[in-house]
Amino acid sequence: MSKLINCDLWSDNNGVHINAHAGGIIEFKGVYYWYGEDKTEGWEGRLAYHGVHCYKSTNMVRWEDEGIVLKCVEDKESPISKGKRIERPKVLYNDMTEKFVMWFHSTDEGHTIAKSGCAVSDSPLGPFEFVGAKWPNAGVWPLNMFDENKRPARLIESKNYSELKFLDSENKDITKYNLLGRDFERGQMARDMQLFKDDDGTAYHIYASEHNSTLHIAKLTDDYLDHSDEYVRVFPNRWMEAPAMFKRNGKYYLLMSGCTSWDPNAARAAVGESPFGPWIELSNPCKGKNKFNGHDEQTTFGCQSTYVFYIDKEDRYIAMFDEWHPENFIDSRYVWLDIEFDEIVGYRIPWKDSIRL
Ligand code: DGJ
Repeated sequence: MSKLINCDLWSDNNGVHINAHAGGIIEFKGVYYWYGEDKTEGWEGRLAYHGVHCYKSTNMVRWEDEGIVLKCVEDKESPISKGKRIERPKVLYNDMTEKFVMWFHSTDEGHTIAKSGCAVSDSPLGPFEFVGAKWPNAGVWPLNMFDENKRPARLIESKNYSELKFLDSENKDITKYNLLGRDFERGQMARDMQLFKDDDGTAYHIYASEHNSTLHIAKLTDDYLDHSDEYVRVFPNRWMEAPAMFKRNGKYYLLMSGCTSWDPNAARAAVGESPFGPWIELSNPCKGKNKFNGHDEQTTFGCQSTYVFYIDKEDRYIAMFDEWHPENFIDSRYVWLDIEFDEIVGYRIPWKDSIRL
């Protein structure tokens, strides 16, 4: 048994700090694969210059560098060209096609594109082949949409909002607009995202949509390479980012952040009857103080959620967070904490200096 110290430098097999930020982990045939954003030095490091980095481990403590498994390209027209953004990459194994499917937030330096990128590989170690980037659910209304909002007049009225500025951080003005209607034909915005594979193999794509104001949860097709035309809108105008979904005893849970760019804010939590809900918001699950940076639960220990990994063998849920260092992104750190479940509050994430693995 060994442990990782939160907010410390986490060395790989070459003694280099692990470079897989806003990432997630899958287990395949007894081996753990950690995929995340490869960051570079300085503020510039927020952009993608290499691609998606992968590490491999059999014990979750010693991680071997497997290099870049989805590579940035030189072609400036490509959504994965150097200097664009490849954010929050997540990978699922598809039992039917026996392929590894990656989805990520695909956008540009100015964060104006808000698409979802997809890539596929025969091996967990890549190379992942880029499939494309899209706005999900074009021409499809969510399952939980009121007929009132589908009226053609409402749709036309929402086509061109000349006064609409770049409303990507919490802003009450957003309630004046029908952004879902505006984006109905071309497809919905998709920013911070997550993948979730249910016990029956059905996969869901969870993403911040409508300028980040509202989360969408969409079912993927059986091969995980596309959206299935079934999705719901959840937590309208609650500005949730960094979503992570997990399941325990038939209940579904979400861990999320608020929407304050790279600055930490108070974590959000929710419990649902199914991935499509109904969802009920819970209180901030975090408790305690991070002695390394002085942040407490009001700012999620100075961190932002990225993934919840279930260790099957130990029936243990690990909440994974990023401590962002925007002045030098490559120096951003990791915080992993055990989740404790509770009949009354749903779940808690108490601060611990280290994680035993
Ligand atoms: C917060 C998101 O959670 C990050 O992934 C990143 O997109 C930043 N915003 C960019 O401002």
